[in-house]
Amino acid sequence: MPIFINEENMQFHLQGKNVSYVFHVMKNRQLGHLYIGNKLRNREDFSHLSKVEHRVASSYVYEEDPSFSLDLLKQEYPSYGTSDYREPAFQLLQPNGSRISDFTYRAHEVVEGKPALDGLPATYTESGTEAETLVIHLHDDVTEVSLELMYTVFHERNVVTRTSRFINRGEETHQLQRALSTSVDLPDADYSLVQLSGSWSRERHIQERRLQQGIQSITSTRGTSSSQHNPFLALKRPETTEHQGEVFGFSLIYSGNFLAQVEVDHYENARISMGINPFDFSWTMEPGETFQTPEAVIAFSNEGMNGLSQSFHDLYQKRLARGQWRDRERPVLINNWEATYFDFNEEKLLSIADRANELGIELFVLDDGWFGKRNDDTTSLGDWFVDESKLPNGLAPLVEQMNEKGMMFGLWFEPEMISRESKLYEQHSEWIIHVPERHPSTGRHQLVLDFSNPEVVDYIYERMSAILSEAKIDYVKWDMNRYMTEIGSIAHASERQMEVPHRYILGVYRLYERLLESFPHVLFESCASGGARFDPGMLYYAPQGWTSDDTDAVERLSIQYGTSMVYPLSSMGAHISAVPNHQVKRMTSLKTRGDVAYFGAFGYELDVTEMTKEEQRQVKEQVSWYKSHRGLFQYGQFYRLISPFQGDRNETSWMVVSADRKKAIVGVYQILARPNPGFNRIRLKGLDPEDEYKIEGQAGTYFGDELMHAGIQLESAYNGAQTGGIEESGDFSSQLFVLSSVNES
Ligand code: DGJ
Repeated sequence: MPIFINEENMQFHLQGKNVSYVFHVMKNRQLGHLYIGNKLRNREDFSHLSKVEHRVASSYVYEEDPSFSLDLLKQEYPSYGTSDYREPAFQLLQPNGSRISDFTYRAHEVVEGKPALDGLPATYTESGTEAETLVIHLHDDVTEVSLELMYTVFHERNVVTRTSRFINRGEETHQLQRALSTSVDLPDADYSLVQLSGSWSRERHIQERRLQQGIQSITSTRGTSSSQHNPFLALKRPETTEHQGEVFGFSLIYSGNFLAQVEVDHYENARISMGINPFDFSWTMEPGETFQTPEAVIAFSNEGMNGLSQSFHDLYQKRLARGQWRDRERPVLINNWEATYFDFNEEKLLSIADRANELGIELFVLDDGWFGKRNDDTTSLGDWFVDESKLPNGLAPLVEQMNEKGMMFGLWFEPEMISRESKLYEQHSEWIIHVPERHPSTGRHQLVLDFSNPEVVDYIYERMSAILSEAKIDYVKWDMNRYMTEIGSIAHASERQMEVPHRYILGVYRLYERLLESFPHVLFESCASGGARFDPGMLYYAPQGWTSDDTDAVERLSIQYGTSMVYPLSSMGAHISAVPNHQVKRMTSLKTRGDVAYFGAFGYELDVTEMTKEEQRQVKEQVSWYKSHRGLFQYGQFYRLISPFQGDRNETSWMVVSADRKKAIVGVYQILARPNPGFNRIRLKGLDPEDEYKIEGQAGTYFGDELMHAGIQLESAYNGAQTGGIEESGDFSSQLFVLSSVNES
């Protein structure tokens, strides 16, 4: 029984595998927070976890009780204006100008499993026994608005999910000016804030800072979750390491503008707030209308950052991603983008596909440039009709020829965009996100279609469905290449203009949902100039995403390492591209490029027909080797061993271990070679201490405990000896160790 309820003192205790979350109804009938952290045994009363005491200079709710100040109390979904001066979870603007509200407890219910969220991506259960959901019903008498706070706890996970729903039951219209998904008040601030930040082509780098009094936050105002910041933050204790210690992770299942914030108050309490970014947001609730916030996932680990990541990986892989591809091994693909850019014809595509097929590659992906008159990035977005000057016979014969050889076919779309130079723009220039009488800024020469307008979404659905029905298309890469500006929509009234970014994302989700219903066999890969919308919201529809446009093996170490903080390897598109690398011009060996890209949904993004015979031989070997370990790479337990963000940043290492701990693959990467280094060993993780393992290509066997505590000796070639090849010991070199149990069944 994971939810304990004490009806007498109105305390609620949610108990997951190793985590407890406790809250109660306070004296003012609002909800107070009592505890989150390591699992506690249940007891009758937890009220001693909240100290109520008068403090000089505080405001208090009741004249006769100066100790009851909301500024001093830990709360569940706080409001501003009634003695708490910290940033609130919500704010409701009323017709008389008031922003004061008082949502008090009315009832609660426990439901088996987890209800779905209307129109929004969310984690789910497959059986009623996996999780329980507690719904707390609150109501504000003055506005007649109700609030439902929903908490789900999974029996076998260290995760609690939260979401909120406002319901206008009155006769007046109100405006939500802020409606976050979660707020949690921790009783101290002795934490470091970990965030995943960066920019285009260097997404999700790990950054850390100690909490300080005041507000520290990351946000997006760009219309997507963005490559600048990911909708995630972790709070770790100063002593917490990769594999030991306590850490909380907060992740938002949302793809638009978000806020992830920690406010440390004057008594060193840390309030975590997460949800839709309140900046430039408001939502009008007419009588009878509701507003549902996205879901926030709160994970707790007492096994360091890696334990936290494993909780997210498992949850997002098994209970957020959906559909036919969720548990299936993902095909090795070849994408023609960096091979041809816009310059291709049927013959060229077939020549790449033929050669790729000979090398064992399973899926050919036709990227940008197949539609309208798109010979560069200035035209044709929105014109989803095959360009017959490039593909005179249309898509079907091309796809059939590939299918006959046993290759699957995938296609690129950028559904949310429109080029000014396009037929669609000639017909529907009003369909763009814009503000009348204001100049619309562009990005990559394109404008953003108004997905907050259902008519626009319907049209794009019809066009995409027509193309997806025209030929056997097994995969879609859904791209999105610019952020929003001059946000406005002619489809909505003036008081609803600040709803547009959220309505836009709801439109994106609706289109995904409809396409998945009509084409359930299609594997979707999300993309946004690489990884600018690599978030849990997207994972619900597209089980994999294009991690970054940066395919340089060295840059990818940081990007994939950071991404792994939250997202499983099966979700990370990772391709081998040509050298000199197109983004950073770096030369790296085919081996190193492979050794990095294997740790993801593996593929190629280059012209295989231009490779030498020797390179093609190597590619064939890589593909066949990856296929023989693909289940392990895509679905194994992932362990980070050496961080590219720490020390002198010269080395990175990680490994995957099979569920039965019989197999493991370790990757060790060196950026710059060092003369005469020490005798380095690397200590492994996740093995069975009792089991005996052999390392491919080496004599002898080792017990799991030895490999984890004493480690393995790195190849001397890797350590700089004269005998080593450049691929093992030079700059940008890598080593893979393949371990298998000698007792393998
Ligand atoms: C940006 C993507 O990230 C690339 O992979 C490629 O699809 C281009 N767009 C095509 O325009």
